[in-house]
Amino acid sequence: MSEGLVSATAAATMASLTTSRLLPHAKASSIRLLPSLSSPNPKPSSLCFRSLSSSSSFAFLPPLLHRSPWRRTVAAAVPRGTAGSATAFVSDPDQLKSAREDIKELLKTTFCHPILVRLGWHDAGTYDKNIEEWPKRGGANGSLRFEIELKHAANAGLVNALKLLQPIKEKYSSVTYADLFQLASATAVEEAGGPKILMKYGRVDVTGPEQCPDEGRLPDAGPPSPAGHLRDVFYRMGLNDKEIVALSGAHTLGRSRPERSGWGKPESKYTKDGPGAPGGQSWTVQWLKFDNLYFKDIKERKDEDLLVLPTDAALFEDPSFKVYAEKYAEDQDAFFADYAEAHAKLSNLGAKFDPPEGFSIDDSENPVPEKFVASKYSSGKRELSESMKQKIRAEYEAVGGSPDKPLKSNYFLNIIILVAVLALLTSLLGN
Ligand code: HEM
Repeated sequence: MSEGLVSATAAATMASLTTSRLLPHAKASSIRLLPSLSSPNPKPSSLCFRSLSSSSSFAFLPPLLHRSPWRRTVAAAVPRGTAGSATAFVSDPDQLKSAREDIKELLKTTFCHPILVRLGWHDAGTYDKNIEEWPKRGGANGSLRFEIELKHAANAGLVNALKLLQPIKEKYSSVTYADLFQLASATAVEEAGGPKILMKYGRVDVTGPEQCPDEGRLPDAGPPSPAGHLRDVFYRMGLNDKEIVALSGAHTLGRSRPERSGWGKPESKYTKDGPGAPGGQSWTVQWLKFDNLYFKDIKERKDEDLLVLPTDAALFEDPSFKVYAEKYAEDQDAFFADYAEAHAKLSNLGAKFDPPEGFSIDDSENPVPEKFVASKYSSGKRELSESMKQKIRAEYEAVGGSPDKPLKSNYFLNIIILVAVLALLTSLLGN
């Protein structure tokens, strides 16, 4: 299939997807990624998604852009507050802001908040703090867009999140996948009523599927020792007990689907009518609202229709986790504060930023513009040189004065001179 044809098919498919809700699993599972079909090590440009029934609908061409060194002119890329910086950013701040507005629209029409949060988490959560080298260390680097990683068992269903975001990616070519995934996740939390997350952007994308992490870095929901397993996985990411508990609170959103993860009921009274694609089992009654009810519900376990994974239960069983879980069940503000901090940290794991310190797209976080200091600017008057000043001083002193104070007038002397001049004139005229 030529690139042009793939792109055309992709565009048509994407247009239809923007208006659709999350695909039911049967359809999603029939979607396969075809890496240049037979190539064992496909180039990104040759990757395409395609339905197994070849005539039916889904195809898209992931990134053409990331093949080339993707740098743009400095003028277009410098964010407000850093005027004059000579650094070109990989993601463009203005495009990120516009993409955020499009994500908000997408959320309103598709109710895809939960899966976008899960997408961001699964891209970042492969990070291994013991590996220094990027992108080997994993983390928020956009690698989850490649088939090889999407096919990891833990990522079942996330191809749907990618499909929802792809039209936005295509519209904003100067936004990296790594940034887009994290932007979508943070925006979804905020739009669901969660805390404001102080995010930074500028994440660099990996360029090929060979840079994807090995399978097995994300947590299992039902390991033999859930608390120990959570620590193994999250400590490897450099996160601590408080962050494990706070981040688990993201399960206040969304559902588990047995046909994807193997966990949860096919449907419950809270999910059978959607919103979004119906089905699955949620952790909370209002699973599109970000609040602290996840902690209350798993503590009380009163409702059989609500899900509690073994790793969720561990939060109230392990003594160290329990301290935080109890606190968050009682105090939503405490949960929101800790969640926002942990989410921002998660979103940066393993990321390589350009510029290295990243940048904000929230105006209020931009550095305060420098105060206007008049003394820094020329007044238009020319300063006298030191030698000129000394010369003037010497001339003043020669007549008994100084440049700092005016000469005193000698009235008597002036009158005598005036009288003498007048007398001289009179005698000259008389002759
Ligand atoms: C603590 C270890 C964790 C385990 C074992 C775990 C496991 C799972 C499982 C099994 C599902 C169901 C997936 C499906 O069937 O579609 C799920 C969904 C979800 N997870 Fe986690 N998760 C963990 C941590 C996290 C974290 C840290 C976040 C975010 C910060 C998160 C966010 C979500 C969301 C939002 C969903 C719902 C997705 C949807 O409705 O499509 N999870 N998780």
